[in-house]
Amino acid sequence: MQRDEWKNDELYVSIVEDLLSTDLVQSMANYTQHHNSTRLEHSLAVSFDSYQIARRANLDYRSVARAGLLHDLFFYDWRTTKFDLGSHAYIHPRVALRNAEKITDLNDMEKDIILKHMWGVTLARPKYRESVIVSLVDDYEAVHEFMQPFKKRIIARLKA
Ligand SMILES: [Fe+2]
Ligand SMILES: [Fe+2]
Repeated sequence: MQRDEWKNDELYVSIVEDLLSTDLVQSMANYTQHHNSTRLEHSLAVSFDSYQIARRANLDYRSVARAGLLHDLFFYDWRTTKFDLGSHAYIHPRVALRNAEKITDLNDMEKDIILKHMWGVTLARPKYRESVIVSLVDDYEAVHEFMQPFKKRIIARLKA
């Protein structure tokens, strides 16, 4: 999505605004996720893109939007903390779930979305199609966010 595109979608904003107003969610802005995006920007992108897909597919877009925003609600820098990648993949969804439960009640689907979003790296299979959406969009955003600086460099070089 374009940065801040979500702000123009009133339904989306109404679904997530209580979460967005919490200090816990806002503090994700202090963590770098991929090169040039914060964890909050990443989480909003995953949440909003997944919500749009779920709406078009007639699935539970509300749970997708909320759990998508909370799926990486953990507070350490995964690039410097001394976990191997497998441990990080296993641990951070559990940390995110525990943090999410501090700020809202979660339904079974929302819990599944958060816990299984690393499906593909970890073995836990999603119970819902909604969880599959968030997991796939999360993978896509990671690659997309990673590519952004390269795109800018390529464009700059073409103009030179
Ligand atoms: Fe994650
Ligand atoms: Fe993520």
